[in-house]
Amino acid sequence: MRELVLATRNRGKVRELSALVAELRVKVLSLDDVPSAPEVEETGPTFLDNARLKAHLVAQAAGLPALADDSGLEADALDGEPGVYSARYGGPGLDDAGRCALVLERLTARGVESSPARFRCAVVVARPDGNEVACEARWEGIVHGPPRGGNGFGYDPIFEDPVFGQTAAELGEAVKNRVSHRAKALAALALVLREDPDWLVP
Ligand code: IMP
Repeated sequence: MRELVLATRNRGKVRELSALVAELRVKVLSLDDVPSAPEVEETGPTFLDNARLKAHLVAQAAGLPALADDSGLEADALDGEPGVYSARYGGPGLDDAGRCALVLERLTARGVESSPARFRCAVVVARPDGNEVACEARWEGIVHGPPRGGNGFGYDPIFEDPVFGQTAAELGEAVKNRVSHRAKALAALALVLREDPDWLVP
């Protein structure tokens, strides 16, 4: 049976990614199955660079195909911040609520209460021979306060979907998993791999 390593230690992501690859009939391995996998610093200038970096390093270390993703929020009024710094915006002292508050504070400092924004996600499957498939997707919305909703994580409480008129933290998980940046990027990837299942093991 074909094997695929999920290059993340985030349990939520492992759940989402496992659901995606279930139909590809591959045995899913986690980073815990690859003790030689390096800890990857996400220092690239784009989400795609970071996903690529992680996928290729893990594929090399495991000698197996590896799937990695990178994601974050971009607010236009903040010139694209938090961007690739989303997970560590404001430094290590902040939690999710603190990072949401910081985004709202910085909007206020720029004299606006809201901003067009989007979540972005890049996913990459890399093979040990260096070949890759990459897909990207975005979820367009508006960032504004106050934070609303108790579902989700990260910047969900301050990101409103204009169609539903609700924040990502107010939408149920089932809805979010249909419309989100990550869901759409993974769906695109599934489409590509479904077309050519032997690509994973040439
Ligand atoms: P990653 O694990 O490097 O991809 O970091 C992504 C960071 O971007 C997370 O820590 C969140 O702060 C933010 N982020 C990415 N996707 C979402 C989402 O769906 N909802 C809320 N925040 C998200």
